[in-house]
Amino acid sequence: MAITFDTNTKTFHLQAKNTSYVMQIINDGYLAHLYWGKKINEYNHSNQVQYRDRGFSPNPVSSDRTFSLDTLPQEYPAYGNTDFRAPAYQVQLENGSTITDLRYESHTIVKGKPTLTGLPATYIESEEEAETLEIILFDEVIGLKVKLAYTAYADLDVITRSAHLINEGNQNLKILKAASMNVDFRDHKYEMITLYGAHERERFINRTGLRYGVQSIESRRGTSSHQQNPFLAIVREDTKEDHGDAYGINLVYSGNFQASVEVDQFDCTRLTMGINSFDFTWLLEPGETFQTPEAVMVYSSTGLGHMSRTFHKLYRTRLCRGEFRDKTRPILINNWEATYFDFNEEKIKDIAKKGKDLGIELFVLDDGWFGKRDDDNTSLGDWFVDENKLPNGLDSLVDNVRNRDMQFGLWFEPEMVSENSDLFREHPDWCIHVPDRKKSTGRNQLILDFSRKEVCDEIINRLSTILSSAPITYVKWDMNRHMTEVGSATLSAERQREVAHRFVLGLYRVMEEITSKFPHILFESCSGGGGRFDPGMLYYMPQTWTSDNTDAISRLKIQYGTSLVYPISSMGAHVSDVPNHQLKRITSLEMRGHVAMSGNLGYELDLTKMTEEEQHAVIDQVNYYKEIRPLIQFGDFYRLLSPFEGNETAWMFVSEDRSEAVFAHFKVLDEGNSPFLSAKLQGLDPNKKYAIAELGESYYGDELMNVGVNIPKVQGDFTSVMWRLQAK
Ligand code: DGJ
Repeated sequence: MAITFDTNTKTFHLQAKNTSYVMQIINDGYLAHLYWGKKINEYNHSNQVQYRDRGFSPNPVSSDRTFSLDTLPQEYPAYGNTDFRAPAYQVQLENGSTITDLRYESHTIVKGKPTLTGLPATYIESEEEAETLEIILFDEVIGLKVKLAYTAYADLDVITRSAHLINEGNQNLKILKAASMNVDFRDHKYEMITLYGAHERERFINRTGLRYGVQSIESRRGTSSHQQNPFLAIVREDTKEDHGDAYGINLVYSGNFQASVEVDQFDCTRLTMGINSFDFTWLLEPGETFQTPEAVMVYSSTGLGHMSRTFHKLYRTRLCRGEFRDKTRPILINNWEATYFDFNEEKIKDIAKKGKDLGIELFVLDDGWFGKRDDDNTSLGDWFVDENKLPNGLDSLVDNVRNRDMQFGLWFEPEMVSENSDLFREHPDWCIHVPDRKKSTGRNQLILDFSRKEVCDEIINRLSTILSSAPITYVKWDMNRHMTEVGSATLSAERQREVAHRFVLGLYRVMEEITSKFPHILFESCSGGGGRFDPGMLYYMPQTWTSDNTDAISRLKIQYGTSLVYPISSMGAHVSDVPNHQLKRITSLEMRGHVAMSGNLGYELDLTKMTEEEQHAVIDQVNYYKEIRPLIQFGDFYRLLSPFEGNETAWMFVSEDRSEAVFAHFKVLDEGNSPFLSAKLQGLDPNKKYAIAELGESYYGDELMNVGVNIPKVQGDFTSVMWRLQAK
């Protein structure tokens, strides 16, 4: 059984593939956390909670001075009744008080996994895949009910959690904080890993020791953000790619989030993650409910590599949805860095034709095809074809491309409006704003108020009209600024701090409607590159434009960091021009190809300007990628050498049956009289002999993994190899 309840000791034991998670109802109904880690047969209270009279840790029951919530490891801790650590939730009553007291009321264990209304979440395809425990906690003074949902996946080391708040009382409650998960670990000998960054520098790995007190990451930008990803892992000091404990938590949410780690006075570690409580409140009237986003919790006893592969598999198969989930993704040519806003129909046709000649499968028309969009000052919201640029209309262009047996894709930025647009002139209050305050712009644009139904409906209509007007099979869904002056014209004063979350809920509805209406379209999300690379978006759109930085060397870190959580099939990676437009760096076409072939391959440069030799190289890359594509996009990913730790990067893709693999090695700078380079491979079958075509040699998996393989010396900076391994 995946989830059991021992009625004598009131202990819950959840078992995922190789993971156990244990909780107990103690004393007068408090829900204590006992264990999360490697799977055990039976929990027989070997590390049961210990009690001691501690100074300055008060007692809910004065007759028992050894019992304090301040020292109790808990599942969903409250503020105000003896626990001084950061609470998982906080609710304000009509009398102004913020004291609540949740106690166990009941629980159910069901097969399968219920859905989360209005929010993205991981799912199952058959009831056998998972079991779900729902624990009801209740505050009898105010009638607040909290349902904690825990799902354990049978074949993955995954436990998901969320909380559902229900106002069963007769007064208005104001939610000040509602985390999705909380775990109280019994020690503090951990390091913390987060993914930080900036526009053009997303998801760099930050690993630091824990210190006493609270350390946290968050987004206050209205989206999950380039700056911090909604991911946090705690690991043991010696945890590496292939060994050691790793606990990774990722929030299935695309808006403001917060993840905090608090090391307390007794060396215990509290990890909490959920919607950011900063500038957030939610009015819960009697009878109303509030659903938190889902937190995905992955435990690995064998290092970060297994943690990542677990996230990858879960997200690839049980978060992403739709026709493209299991399909290899097309190789695309995107015109953005080729033309920016400066194109006409002929130019687009030429690039598409050249793309077809080189074997590329999909042409993507990026920003600038609508309204009067000759620069980024205008026209967002006016999703009507610019007939100056495309005088024969979109359908004629799409036909032209499709007649060459190429697919056609289109760029949108549906959540935005330009002040200089007909949409804004018609509806000046449809943007997120605060009355009497100036509206700050970002990239000269404002954000549409998706907390309003009529705004969402209009955008659904406008997009649907264009998408129905021609056989478009791909959409790039962009989002190019963060929220300021957050407010909505129609919400009451006490609901203004709900706007950022309501925006995300509105966005999820729009994406749900559009993606279900157009199931034959492959959607790729984007937010100035990877500013919204999160599992919430992946639920609707199975891939994301990883970064606006297309420089191959920068991409090593960006793609390596992204792979900590997100599957390779979700990462858009393009070969672009040199000198690179973001960094002016010059790298070889070969290296740019190897980096881009380590994700969903695309090209983003003017193919018509390439030399004959370059065009042949592109044909070779495209043909090679078509052969290895299933392995890259759906194989198991192994990180071998980290760009954050040295001059080399190496990674591998291995097929599920371990009969095939692709190995890639990248060297950044050359050195005088440089040391010999070699790499130890991972994930192979030790007893299979693999032919490496590029080396003209064959080796057993055990030799490649234990002895390693030499990387031939290539002179110069920015060099790479990509080898294909095939078991004989
Ligand atoms: C930002 C995206 O990340 C780019 O790829 C491009 O689509 C531009 N927006 C277009 O404005």
